[in-house]
Amino acid sequence: MGQKNSVTVTDNRNGKSYEFPILDGTIGPSVVDISSFYKNLGMFTFDNGLTSTASCQSAITYIDGEKGKLMYRGYDISYLATQKIFADTAHLLLYKKLPTDEEREAFRLELKRRSFIHEGMIKLFDAFPDNAHPMAILSAAVSTLSTFYFDHLDVDSPSEYMEMAKRIIAKIPTIAAFSYRYSRGLPIIYPNLDRGFVENILYMLRAFPYDHVNLKPIEVKALDTILTLHADHEQNASTTTVRTVASTHAHPYAAVSAGIGALWGRAHGGANESVIRQLEVIGDVKNVEKYIAKAKDKNDPFRLMGFGHRVYKNFDPRAAILKNIRDQLMKESDIKIDENLVEVANKIEETALKDEYFIKRNLYPNIDFYSGLILRALGIPKDMFAVIFVIGRAPGWIAQWIELKEHNERITRPRQLYVGPEERTPKY
Ligand code: CMC
Repeated sequence: MGQKNSVTVTDNRNGKSYEFPILDGTIGPSVVDISSFYKNLGMFTFDNGLTSTASCQSAITYIDGEKGKLMYRGYDISYLATQKIFADTAHLLLYKKLPTDEEREAFRLELKRRSFIHEGMIKLFDAFPDNAHPMAILSAAVSTLSTFYFDHLDVDSPSEYMEMAKRIIAKIPTIAAFSYRYSRGLPIIYPNLDRGFVENILYMLRAFPYDHVNLKPIEVKALDTILTLHADHEQNASTTTVRTVASTHAHPYAAVSAGIGALWGRAHGGANESVIRQLEVIGDVKNVEKYIAKAKDKNDPFRLMGFGHRVYKNFDPRAAILKNIRDQLMKESDIKIDENLVEVANKIEETALKDEYFIKRNLYPNIDFYSGLILRALGIPKDMFAVIFVIGRAPGWIAQWIELKEHNERITRPRQLYVGPEERTPKY
């Protein structure tokens, strides 16, 4: 980061002025380095929701929310999503470069070989009630990996944390599939080494022992694209959680497990599940106007799920790619995409994009508006949607964990504006 200029802050209480350096990145907005703000002014800065705060410096993902641009390590998302496979993107995030053909094959093979989980962990799945949400099981199981794979837990050794990184990325799909199978009382299906990484996810969810499973290339491509589009997204809530946990020197299993918790909520990774639930409730194009009116009503907590984004104030480039995939899937005669829900979704999109309320607030369809319908067409149940998000995001979280480690960042410790009671006199 280069330093070119400064910002002057004047404290009107005493007329004193202080200079804070402006730091420039390679592209995107510069930042004001306020690390000496408290020392100089005796005040903290306040930024509810961290809207104007850069919490770290990073070379992984770049987003231009105004232009609707997203890049991983300098590669545009549409190039990665349309010309590359998810394993390439995972390699790019972990090793900072796209793989050669040989590297890709070696990486894919390594992920496949590591995709099995310790048999002792099976008891963990047994312990959960049948209707346990797969996100709860996933979070617990990722944390539990540290108890079964305790041979490489040194967070200061690059070879050991890379070991943990690959284990997490490879095993999360298996854990996800097992948690789904257990929740439905279905026999668990082990990874099939003859199948690719993404193909195996669909296989483990759908297969039955000794039965033939026919997966169409377009289905595998659709899921691969969803995973690529979710692989990283700068300093969002779950990534910030992962980095915060990492800053305490906790290992990647603990950090990723915490990230899963942060991702679960409906404002973040839970949104695509909420989109489908909401489309089902709306149910018919004739009800769309009523629900748009509810979304606009300030006295009604109802929000249009799959609309709006903290960063994208133009369009979400991931949404445009997925809309195209959804339309391709709709042309496949033997893939069941819920046409009624697509019709309702299209009507919502059409109505909202013309509505002054949504235009004024830059509220566009986001990635979740389309991903839920695609996952449903792939036969993936709603309560697994956020889990699929986790499979995609795991390489990004780990790349962020590694970057924090490489920068030797300080522990994350924000301050607050205290508004509680002043000291009270206790009655003895
Ligand atoms: N429906 C109706 N109004 C909305 C919506 C919506 N989906 N989203 C934002 N607004 C309004 C909001 O009421 C506010 O209006 P006003 O200025 O009059 O008070 C204005 O737009 C700004 O909203 P905000 O809550 O301050 O924006 P935010 O940046 O804090 O929240 C968001 C971003 C994504 C949480 C929010 O847009 C939302 O709740 N969307 C629905 C949930 C959703 O689709 N989440 C997935 C996000 S994409 C996945 C990911 O990257 O993790």
